[in-house]
Amino acid sequence: MTDLNQKQERDQWGSKVGFIFAAAGSAVGLGNLWKFPYTAGQNGGGVFVFIYLALVLIIGFTLMMAELILGRTTQLGPVGAYRKLKEKWSWVGYIGVLASFLIVTFYSVIGGWILKYIVTAFQGGFNVTDVAILETTFTNFIGAPVEPLIYHGAFMLITLGIVMGGISGGIEKASKVLMPGLLIMMVVIMIRSMTLPGAMAGVEYLLKPDFTMLNMKVVLAALGQVFFSLSLGMGVIITYGSYLSKNENLVESSFYIPLLDTILALLSGLTILPAVFALGFDPAGGPGLLFITLPGVFAGMPFGSFFAILFFILVLFAAVTSSISLLEASVSLFVDEFKWNRKKATITLGVIAFLIGVPSSLANGPVMSDMTFINGMNFFDSMSFFAENLLLPLSGLLLAIFIGWIWGTDKAVEEATNSGQVKFGLAKAWAFIIKWVAPLGIGYIFFQSVLTLFS
Ligand code: PFF
Repeated sequence: MTDLNQKQERDQWGSKVGFIFAAAGSAVGLGNLWKFPYTAGQNGGGVFVFIYLALVLIIGFTLMMAELILGRTTQLGPVGAYRKLKEKWSWVGYIGVLASFLIVTFYSVIGGWILKYIVTAFQGGFNVTDVAILETTFTNFIGAPVEPLIYHGAFMLITLGIVMGGISGGIEKASKVLMPGLLIMMVVIMIRSMTLPGAMAGVEYLLKPDFTMLNMKVVLAALGQVFFSLSLGMGVIITYGSYLSKNENLVESSFYIPLLDTILALLSGLTILPAVFALGFDPAGGPGLLFITLPGVFAGMPFGSFFAILFFILVLFAAVTSSISLLEASVSLFVDEFKWNRKKATITLGVIAFLIGVPSSLANGPVMSDMTFINGMNFFDSMSFFAENLLLPLSGLLLAIFIGWIWGTDKAVEEATNSGQVKFGLAKAWAFIIKWVAPLGIGYIFFQSVLTLFS
């Protein structure tokens, strides 16, 4: 893949597997490893997982394919893609880019926490099994005014450095090694976590839905998580699709990416929640879960420090392959639309993203924890709500309406299958979902999100 600004000679993915791993590299990140387990923990466990899986199947696959189609057919990023097909729709592309920009501001704060944990793991700081101590260590760290900002800055610098160099070749190559590495590593740690005494309660909590816990909040959280985790609604998948060759069958690709993403989310859930139960921690404990319980698991493991280092490094890679795709979305927009050079665009946007991330970091400590923005939420949670629960569904809703009603599902299906046949009436089902189920479903959920703004 070349720099996204070299439109004349557009490169293409080296191989289908390479593309799938790279797209999965964008999809698999902190959303799976950090956010999925704690969001499940806060939303009733099994019932959240059940709704999440249903939404991935119905909406995730459909929109993933829609974005790939839009990108491949136009060979352009989101703004250009909409514009090429219908001039008046180009603003929809901007919504996604705005969302990805806002997300990278706080994504980098969490990325910084991962960096800090790598440093701690190297210093042998994970010899503690007492969850109370681990919790205090974590909350003291994220609540401090300065140290997390330094790590946030470092993470943003890594992201910025890679994006500035253009994301050529590297992403595809690195993802091919790192994704399988992460998968194997997760399985090893999952086995350790599931064999801790008392761990089965966590497995049950995650896999056995209790439908009495089902409410709108759970559905909202699940849909937000589907968009976030699959990198949907931000134009990133459109951009990745634009580098696909015309011979590729998109139906298959749009199946594997969500599949890999979902496997990693479930593995992470099955690693963290059993440990939460075994170590006597609260499943609804929030963003700290990964950072509090896993060190406890490592401490009790043979070669724990070694596994801790390896694990947090792999998480860092997963986070970086996601954060570069997040920042790249707005950088390529400035390069393509406003004719900035890549270096200037990357540095300017990276610095602004760092600055907007500062209050997200401070929101975890005494400096800003009392300040509330949307609905009594602190700055960090408000940003995440605004981007994930408002902008992303809005952009997904408009995407479905665009493909279903404006551009037309026939053309889309033709593009996806290279005018070939699809078995089992899949094309019809897909068209039905994109025309009716996705707009009505996402529209309703989006409306509920808007309502919570006024409640
Ligand atoms: N999908 C990534 C994750 O789960 O961590 C986050 C992300 C990356 C979202 C890229 C959106 C995106 F465009």
